[in-house]
Amino acid sequence: MSGNRINTRYIKVDQAHPEADAIAEAGLILRGGGLVAFPTETVYGLGADATNGLAVARIFEAKGRPPDNPIIVHVAFRSQLNALAASISAAAEILMDAFWPGPLTIILPAGTGVPEAVTAGLTTVAVRMPDHPVALALIKAAGVPVAAPSANLSGKPSPTRAEHVVQDLDGRIDAILDGGPAGVGVESTVLDLTSQVPIILRPGGITPEELRACLGRVEVDRDAISGYCDGESPRSPGMKYTHYAPRAPLLLVTGSQPAVASKILEMARVEAGGGRRAGILTYSDSSDYSTVGEVVVAGRRDKPETVAAGLYSALRRFNEMGVDIIFAEGLEEKGVGLAVMNRLKKAAGGRIIKV
Ligand code: TXA
Ligand code: MG
Repeated sequence: MSGNRINTRYIKVDQAHPEADAIAEAGLILRGGGLVAFPTETVYGLGADATNGLAVARIFEAKGRPPDNPIIVHVAFRSQLNALAASISAAAEILMDAFWPGPLTIILPAGTGVPEAVTAGLTTVAVRMPDHPVALALIKAAGVPVAAPSANLSGKPSPTRAEHVVQDLDGRIDAILDGGPAGVGVESTVLDLTSQVPIILRPGGITPEELRACLGRVEVDRDAISGYCDGESPRSPGMKYTHYAPRAPLLLVTGSQPAVASKILEMARVEAGGGRRAGILTYSDSSDYSTVGEVVVAGRRDKPETVAAGLYSALRRFNEMGVDIIFAEGLEEKGVGLAVMNRLKKAAGGRIIKV
């Protein structure tokens, strides 16, 4: 990676009605092969012209992203898919009608013109239409589909606010569009439509329940449930990497709430006794841990959407606090809770305690 810092333009825009001149400027940067971070309804993305392989290559450099991890292409119109996908199945049409714009990424057979940097050499391409006025305006202004992973350094929690992008990528990218906090808080659901039965490779804002109501049978990838990859070649290359990791090691504790609470209290006391500061990731309707560590409340246990919205900010808070270890309470893997638990398991990197 080159050590050269570049001057990152910071551009504030109105979330609902982004200013035309700001969007035009950011669109020009993309057309010129530059990198622009922008808000979506899930997390902030780091965009490049998806038709320009060199521009997309710069994304990998800026993020420190492993080269075999393909990138989602963002569109503002369905007609942009014609140049990206070799074919669009009936199931894909049904899903786009139901969930676009929105937090659903679908994997289709790739068209021949898609740069290898986007697909990482796979024969498929991931596409989505974000449900965010700033993202849609930017893609329209660029006049090209926009390849965009989450706008964080590889391995760090995804950014849900422009300040998170500044923390990770200032000096490495051309511009940041600050359109306020992202809404959903976890990344889009990635659904592979090229397999016989549609399969969720990454749980996200659209739940398995919602997809099944539309398509009938939908599977969830084993690695997406376990949170780590034990096979040698995961279907979604990104899933084999450690993700969403705060600096301190994170232990995920699952089970009934009272049992989880007493286990965390016990472990946090041991840490405190050894002179170490424990961080505790919990929910507003939970036990009081304030006597044993630094508490961050991510949302309400019975409303997993609220936890999704606060999760990555919470993980970044622990970095700011400088805690030595983090204990996180598990959630029920229902609805968006499946996506939250997937991210917590990945952040835990296998350190999961069932009580
Ligand atoms: O919500 C989101 O999806 C955000 C916003 C910015 O749109 N983007 C995002 O991108 O999360 P990223 O790069 O952080 O995650 C993309 C995931 C990775 O796990 C990658 O491996 C997978 O999608 N993916 C991309 N193209 C794929 C393909 N052709 N086949 C299988 N998996 C693919
Ligand atoms: Mg990411």
